[in-house]
Formats: sequence, C-alpha cells, structure tokens
Amino acid sequence: MKSKSGKRIGIFGFGCVGQGLHDVLQENPHLDVARICVRDQEKLRTLPKHHFTYDAQELLQDESIDLYAELISDPKEALLIVRQALRAGKTIVSANKKMISENLTELVALQEEFGGTLLYEAAVCGSIPILRTLEAYYGNEPLLEVSGILNGSSNYILTKLDAEGISYNEALAQAQALGFAEADPTLDVGGYDTLHKISLIAAHAFGAVVKPEQVLRAGIQHISRKDVALAQALGGRIRLVATAKLNQNNKLELQVLPTLVFPDSELYHVEAEFNGVQLEARYAGDQFLKGRGAGSHPTGSAVWADVSAALAGYKYSYPKFRHNEEGELRPVPVEEDDELKIYVRSTMPEFLPQLPWRELTVFGEGKREIQLVGTIRRKDLLLHLSALKQTIAFIAQLPAHVSAEQVVAASCIALEEAA
Ligand code: HSE
Repeated sequence: MKSKSGKRIGIFGFGCVGQGLHDVLQENPHLDVARICVRDQEKLRTLPKHHFTYDAQELLQDESIDLYAELISDPKEALLIVRQALRAGKTIVSANKKMISENLTELVALQEEFGGTLLYEAAVCGSIPILRTLEAYYGNEPLLEVSGILNGSSNYILTKLDAEGISYNEALAQAQALGFAEADPTLDVGGYDTLHKISLIAAHAFGAVVKPEQVLRAGIQHISRKDVALAQALGGRIRLVATAKLNQNNKLELQVLPTLVFPDSELYHVEAEFNGVQLEARYAGDQFLKGRGAGSHPTGSAVWADVSAALAGYKYSYPKFRHNEEGELRPVPVEEDDELKIYVRSTMPEFLPQLPWRELTVFGEGKREIQLVGTIRRKDLLLHLSALKQTIAFIAQLPAHVSAEQVVAASCIALEEAA
C-alpha cells in the first residue's frame, strides 16, 4: 500500500545499517518500505519473512519504487546494484565507502549521463554531515586542510586501551559486538576504511581523485600496551588520523597514520566510536565537527537524511572537481616531499629495512624488539612502508615538537610504571 505522499523506498541489506534505517524510518509516515533485499534466506530476522526478497531484480525493476538505499557490505555486489540503478536514471543512497571511493569517477559519469542521483553521506563519518558541509558550505571557499578521526571501531579500540587497559582483542571484540566494525575488521584496524573515507573527503574538499597507493597508510593492529603507556607518559594519546592538506607548493598531501595527539588538539577528546573532523578554510578559518561515526542508528540517521534530501531533489554538484579536455575527472597531483617524525616499534628487529633516515634514535633494544624515533622524507617512508610493515611494526607519527630525548625519557617512565 502507498503512503499519502506515494513515495516508496527499496532497501538492499538488513545488517546493522539497514536495520538502523528501518528503525528510523518508523518516524517517517511519508515513506513506505517496498521490500528489503537480503542474501541469506535462513538468517533469523527481526521482521516477518514477507518484508524480504532475495532477488535484487525484483526491486531494481519495480517501477513503483521512487528510490533505493544500498546498504550491503559486499562492495562488488553493491557496485552492480548502484550501476544498474544509475543507468536507469534512478536515485540511490549508499553507505559503501569502499565501493564508492574506488569507483567514484565512473559513478559521477553515470549520474551525468543518465540523470540519476547518488548520495552517500552515511559512507563518511556516520552521523556527521561532513560531505553536505563540504558541498553546500565550502563549495567555493578554498580549503587548506581536512583531517580527523574517521573510523569509529579503531577509535573505540584505542580509547579502551588507553582508558581501561583492556586487551586489543577484547576491545576489538566489543567493537564488533556493538556493530561498529566492518564484516572484515581488517578494513577498520588496517586503516583501509579511513583511507576510503579520506578519499571521498578529498574529492569533495579538493576535487581530487586519489589513488590508494599514493596515500601513506598504516593501521593500529600492532599497537601494544608499551606504545599506549609511552603516549601516556608523554601526556598524549594515540589516535588513527587521516589528513588531506595542501602543502606550501599548493600540492595535496594525504596520509592515514596512527598519530600522537595532545590535550590541546580537538582529536585528543574524541572518544570511543565518535569521529571528529577538523577543517581549515582560507577565509572561515578553523572548524571542528564531532559525532557518532559508527553504529546502527547514527548511520541509519545519515541514510535517512540522504533519502529526504534526494526526495527533495538534492544532488552533489562536486564543485571542486577539475575536468580535463576529455571531460573526465583528473587526479590532483599529490606531493610527498616533506619530512615526517615517526615512532616505530618492531618485534622483528633483524628484518628492519635500511631506511634513509635523516635523524635516528634507537632505544628499547632487545633480542625480540626495537623502538626508534626518526625523521624521514614522506616519499621515502611511502617507498619502504610495506617492507617496514612486514616486520610487524607499529608505526605512529609524532608532532614535530616532540624530541627523541623526550620519547626515550617517557619510555623509561612507562617501563618503571609497568614494573
Ligand atoms: N566500520 C566503520 C567504523 C563503520 O568503525 O567507522 C562506519 O563507517
């Protein structure tokens, strides 16, 4: 049966986000859920069977449906659904950051060619309206930097390690049980999910199409109590921070790295599954947005906001994309020339690659472990990063003002407190 306004939505997926959307839609009497398409026929669901279909085409070819919400975790399946909907000139809302970030050029072209609409606020920072802010508010004003905590699961884990001292595996299990983590949590803790999100932010904030291999990326999966205690002894906390910023040569620099932050940074105060995004605009100056970055209802709320906006005719205008003569999106040059200060703890010291460090201080040396603080050119770190990661290393960026001497002294304090 149709509601008064006659709008009908077809939903793909009934996991954490699909369920969340269904819940929040109960507040909206003007929208009917046509059917929900799921894969697993045997799984116990919170709704009776007649709400579901197992055939995507049943929804995609239903002319009575006004728009779709694609909320499945498989990026390949999600791409097929979104492509077909856009080729039919339909409106679709998605939360699949991996699929969208890896296929953005095609998805923008499909909208231009067939007149359909794709919105994906829920794909980036859960309930924080970051894409709408970048599009609608900063569409014209040049941005200098957008950075922040973009993954709720890894922030939840880091918060628990810091505040409660529970084990990494226990904290990860909690993030999974609370519905924050991806089906494959490597995407969260390895920094891939954050990379997908900063790529989408870079597109809307700087008009940049980013190749993943251009981005310096490390995750939190090898963090230990020692690293957490060291950060605490320095008066800081470790957070997984993504950065997209223009350097002095007006070139874009991108990275996803565990980073030591101090109480004077907004990011220090972003806890549990919350995300936080810092914007630096040429004229508006600094701005900070904070909100729940993961979870069923916060993400469902972001999908709902997109659904409402799409029904009102809203589309992204991609104001910062630069087109080349062929009319295609082109990558913005990424530069890797500046220097970074890096902390490394590796449990396979014998396999550490010879990196071209500018400065290097080694400490905590034992048979099975080594810690070091060094400065290195971003370009060199990017070149050697995969070899470094093979040594089961935890890698974090230190602010330039933190000296190697301070880190060594703090590691002694941390050791004494642990004893
Ligand atoms: N796994 C994601 C996170 C879900 O933890 O942030 C929201 O994108």
